Amino acid sequence: MPSRTTGTDADADADAATASATATATADPRSGAVPPTLADIRAAGAVLDGVVRTTPMTHSRHLSGLVGCPVHLKCENLQRTGSFKLRGGYARLAALSPRQRAAGVVAASAGNHAQGVALAAALLGVRATVFMPEGAPAGKAAATRRHGAEVRTAGRVVDEALAAAQDHARRTGAVLIHPFDHPDVIAGQGTVGLEILAQLPWTATVVVAVGGGGLAAGVATAVKALRPQTRVIGVQAENAAPYPPSLASGRPTAVRAGTTIADGIKVARPGELPFRIVKDLVDEVRTVGEDALRSAQHLCLERAKLLVEPAGAAPVAALLAAPESFTGPLVAVLSGGNADLAELGRTLGAC
Ligand SMILES: Cc1ncc(COP(=O)(O)O)c(C=O)c1O
Repeated sequence: MPSRTTGTDADADADAATASATATATADPRSGAVPPTLADIRAAGAVLDGVVRTTPMTHSRHLSGLVGCPVHLKCENLQRTGSFKLRGGYARLAALSPRQRAAGVVAASAGNHAQGVALAAALLGVRATVFMPEGAPAGKAAATRRHGAEVRTAGRVVDEALAAAQDHARRTGAVLIHPFDHPDVIAGQGTVGLEILAQLPWTATVVVAVGGGGLAAGVATAVKALRPQTRVIGVQAENAAPYPPSLASGRPTAVRAGTTIADGIKVARPGELPFRIVKDLVDEVRTVGEDALRSAQHLCLERAKLLVEPAGAAPVAALLAAPESFTGPLVAVLSGGNADLAELGRTLGAC
């Protein structure tokens, strides 16, 4: 991987510095993180070849009728581990130096990043410890263990689990694998953008869920480099949406993250590096309410026969909320499928 901050033990130092700087999910500006380029994303694609699936893109007649233009669904819910997170996790781990790999890795996550890091670590023979907050979906914790990671419970929210992971990194020398605030992670997620344009070269609009912003930053970097006229639209859950105020003020701004069924994108503050990229390359970040998220998840299951978790359905929720405001051909990224089935039962009952 050619990323300019990878493969050195300085990375571990940068992560340790991050740890001491803050308990929220941000990168240390002192790490000098440089945004990945199209070449970095292509290099990540080569590293991921044979590791991740090229996920299918499927045309949705129902959504095309609603929106009034061709709508396609990019099925990262069918990715290994059930979300795009394996891309960034594997790209990051593969770029570690032998010394860093020997030290092991540590991550904090309520679910999808945990599974991505756990499988990446297993494939690369690296020891992984994952801190999950109390109340993280039992299925996601069990899947993370099945991939061979040691799962520890810490705190009630991801930020508290992250503080525990950072403390673990400081004490043991393990490398912290941040869920979104690292160039290698962003480059890995950007391979979704490469696949979209390979599968539908004339895509006019890409709609993608935004948490800390790593996925949107990577996708926008790839898409804008290859086809600058394609619009990239990010979507956050209304109850946990730090991007709109951050974009308005010009710097990452924390909000109080309220309750949302879209646990995958429940983040209180944008990542430093993702924010810089999103600010420059993403055309717009919208928000969607809980009812739209539920309807979107329901629609994916009923109409497209696709099991998608609420965060992964956020782009479809944005289409439902303002169908007339999009131009096609449009690709909605279904970023994850690790739905809590008990919760889904309640959601379906409410629709
Ligand atoms: C299903 C799903 N979609 C989207 C995201 C957002 O990714 P990012 O934090 O890189 O913006 C996440 C993050 O965990 C996720 O799990």
